[in-house]
Amino acid sequence: MKTDTEYEKLIRQEIRSLEPYRSPAFDCRIKLDLNESPFDIPAELKDRIYEKARGLNWHRYHDEFEPVLKKQLAEHDSHLTEGVLIGNGSNALIFHALLASVGAGDAVVFPEPTFSLYRQNVTVLGGNPAAFRLREKDFSLDEEQAVALVEKSRAAAVVLCSPNNPTGNRIPNAAIERIAGSTEALIIVDEAYMHFAEDSAFELLAKYPNLILLRTFSKAFGLAGLRFGYALCAPELAHEIVKVQLPHHVSFFTQLAALTMLEEPLLVEERVAEIKRGRRYLQERLAHLPGIRPLASETNFILIECGEKPAAEVFNGLLKLGVLIRNVSGYPGLSRYLRITVGKPAENEALIAALEEVL
Ligand SMILES: Cc1ncc(COP(=O)(O)O)c(C=O)c1O
Repeated sequence: MKTDTEYEKLIRQEIRSLEPYRSPAFDCRIKLDLNESPFDIPAELKDRIYEKARGLNWHRYHDEFEPVLKKQLAEHDSHLTEGVLIGNGSNALIFHALLASVGAGDAVVFPEPTFSLYRQNVTVLGGNPAAFRLREKDFSLDEEQAVALVEKSRAAAVVLCSPNNPTGNRIPNAAIERIAGSTEALIIVDEAYMHFAEDSAFELLAKYPNLILLRTFSKAFGLAGLRFGYALCAPELAHEIVKVQLPHHVSFFTQLAALTMLEEPLLVEERVAEIKRGRRYLQERLAHLPGIRPLASETNFILIECGEKPAAEVFNGLLKLGVLIRNVSGYPGLSRYLRITVGKPAENEALIAALEEVL
């Protein structure tokens, strides 16, 4: 039996200092905490996926789907097939993009508050997280500050979340362009929420060879449980990043499901429209609650500022009533804030009713 200190020696110091990335697991009547789609895949579509999977040999690897899926994704997004990468969720692609570009001690620049996985991944890789703050008044990004930090830290990569989790706002393309054009560092733009936004950074791809856009099927497409994401970049960049990906990394089942969802653009469109309607409804109702300030959002969630009542008290009050949202008050600069995922109409109403009771 090894002693605790002997186990410690097996693991790098930067890993030992981390907490695992886990979402708090609460069993709740209404779950508005993880920015998932409120809509499951229709039974008929699930059957179509099962049918395709049933006919395959499960004891074989199935690499034949990857080129087909990449081609379909390229068509879907009007990009080159050779410039598409796939992964087990866009989280895997964040890691792969960083793994390919960041060496021990390399700086990676990103604004905060943002998705906490970026800092975690950079630390795991032995890189150096070089974070700067979004503007306090509206969580907008000061691109000159970003450019200066990229230069000063000699960053190997920059991670920009647009629209940003958890603030909900998009980084204007002019700001992304200013940063991408100022450096040879890899610019990773996480567009997990782009379906709910007014614009994306896609138009910049052709102009900036150091840019990679990450997208996911976990939000608008409703496939979070199957884990599928993809990246768009220059073919030369994809050709390099693919080398850090593990063999047969995305299961054939997930790939079949992604291919099936790509056959259903109208379903995705309708659901995005329904979520945007829910967002408008929530914005309006939240704005009328005492002491609550909802922020504008280009995502499927809304960040709210709590006035008099501490955010943790509001969060716990809702939890007691069976409504789970995300307590982001521990994020840098967000001590008074909570994040709410847009749900189905009945869930949104239940949230408002519960908030009225708690406040
Ligand atoms: C900014 C951001 N990127 C990526 C993800 C996760 O995406 P995936 O499920 O594709 O790994 C999330 C999930 O909440 C997110 O907020």
